[in-house]
Amino acid sequence: MSQSLKKHLRSHGQEHLLDHWSRLPSDQQETFADQLRAVDLSLIARLHARRDTVEDIPAMIARAEPPPAFRLDPAKNPFSPSKARQSADEALRDGQLGVVLVAGGQGTRLGFDQPKGMYPIGPLSGKTLFQIHVEKIVAAARRYGASIPLYLMTSPATDEPTRRFFAENDRFGLAEEDLRIFCQGTMPAVDAATGKILLAGPGCLAVSPDGHGGMLAALHATGGLADARQRGLKHLFYFQVDNPLVDICGREFVGYHLLARSELSSQVVAKRDPLERVGNIISVDGRLHVIEYSDLPESLARRRHPDGSLEIWAGSIAVHVFDVAFLHRMVEQVDALPFHHAMKIVPHVDPATGRRIEPDASNAIKFERFIFDLLPSAHRAIVVEVDRKEAFAPLKNASGDQHDTPETVRAAMISQHTEWLRRARAEVADGVTVEISPRFALDADELTEKIVPGTKIDKDTHFEERD
Ligand code: UD1
Repeated sequence: MSQSLKKHLRSHGQEHLLDHWSRLPSDQQETFADQLRAVDLSLIARLHARRDTVEDIPAMIARAEPPPAFRLDPAKNPFSPSKARQSADEALRDGQLGVVLVAGGQGTRLGFDQPKGMYPIGPLSGKTLFQIHVEKIVAAARRYGASIPLYLMTSPATDEPTRRFFAENDRFGLAEEDLRIFCQGTMPAVDAATGKILLAGPGCLAVSPDGHGGMLAALHATGGLADARQRGLKHLFYFQVDNPLVDICGREFVGYHLLARSELSSQVVAKRDPLERVGNIISVDGRLHVIEYSDLPESLARRRHPDGSLEIWAGSIAVHVFDVAFLHRMVEQVDALPFHHAMKIVPHVDPATGRRIEPDASNAIKFERFIFDLLPSAHRAIVVEVDRKEAFAPLKNASGDQHDTPETVRAAMISQHTEWLRRARAEVADGVTVEISPRFALDADELTEKIVPGTKIDKDTHFEERD
C-alpha cells in the first residue's frame, strides 16, 4: 500500500479506512486506493466542522423581504407579456436556447425503484416523464426550426438505466447530437459525531450524489458547458424530472429573462399554504436567496400582509433560466456553491471487524449542493410568477399521500388539457379523461389552431400526432 496515501489519510484522521486493507483482494485494493485518492479530505474535514457551509439562516431571514417579481397580473410588470413572447421567439429561432434536465435523484419517497423519469405518468398514454419532457423539446425545436439540445444529468444510480432507456426508445425523437447525458459527482457520507468517512462495504466508501448543485461541476467536467458555448447557446432552461406540467422554454418566462437582462431567472408559484414543502425565494440585502421549507421557522412562514396575503409567498418550483456566460463565470469560483448538511440513516460496515451496522436513527451527514444557491451571485436575477395549474404538478410521493402523488399529478394534467380544449371551444363532457401529446400541441394556442370549434369529446381521448 502506498505510504503517501496512508500518511494523507492519517493526517486527516481517516486512517480507519485502511483497517481492513490487508483482507481486500489485490484488484479491489487498487480501485479502493483510487476511490480514496479522489476524495478531497480537507474539504470533508472543513464541512464536518461546518466551516464551509451555508450562511446563518435565522440572521438572513430576519432581513428577508419579498423578492422583486413579475406577477401574474401583467399590469404590475415592467414589460408586457406580448413583448416577452416576441423576445423569446427571436432567441429560440436563433438557436440560443438549450435545456438542462436534472434526474439524478433516487425518488425514495415515491417508492419507485427505477429512475423517476421512467415513471409512466401519461393519464391515457402511459408515457413516462422522460418521454413527455423530450417530446416537448422536440416539438419546440420543430416550431422554431432550430435545434434545442438537451443536457440530461444522471447520478451513478440512475445513469446506466437512463442511458439504456433513451437508447431503446430512439431518444424519443431527439437527434443523437442533441442529447448529452452526463453523470453528476458524489460525496462521501461521514459519521455525524466523529466526521469519519463511512464504508458501504469492504473496499467501498459510502457515497451519495452531490445534490443537483453538482450540475455545475459535472456539466463543466464532461464538456457540456464548452459544447453549449461552441453551439452558440446563450441561455439554458433548467428543470427537474418530476414535473410533467413544466412549460419547457416557456415564452413569457424566457422573454422576461431576456428583457430584464437577468443572469438567472426563477419561476415561482404563490404558495398554496404557508407551510407548503417548497423552497421560498426571498430578497436579502438586494440579493435573491432560496430558503428551504425545512429551514423556514413556522412563525415567519405564517406572517401576512394587512391584505391577508403571505409575506413569504414565492414558492420556488425549481425551474430556472441560466445565462451560459454566468455559468462559465461561476465554474471558475470554487466556492460558488456551498454544501448543505443532511442528517440521514446510513448503514455501513465497521472497518476493523467488517461487521454490518444498521442504525435505527440518523447517524451520518450527507453533503449536497443546491443549484439555486447561485441566485445571490447572479446579476439582475428575477423571479417570475406562474399559474400553478399551468406549470407545476410534481411527482414526489407514493399513492395515498395528500399531495404530489401519481393521482394528483395525472389529475392536474387532465385538468390542464381539458381547460386547453375548452379554450379551443371544444365541448368536453364531464368525467371524460383527455390527454394532449406535446407532439400534437404544446400549448392552448397551438391546440386552438387544430381543433374545430364545437367539437364534442364524450369519451376518453388521447390527442396524438400521427407519424
Ligand atoms: C425541490 C427543491 C425545492 C422546490 C421543489 C419543487 C431542493 C433542495 N429543493 O425539492 O426548493 O420547491 O423541488 O419541486 O432541491 N436531483 C439530482 N441530483 C441530486 C439530487 C436531486 O439530479 O443529487 C434532482 C432530482 O432528480 C429531482 C430534483 O433534483 O429532479 C429535485 O430533487 P428532490 O429531492 O425531489 O427535491 P425536493 O426536496 O422535492
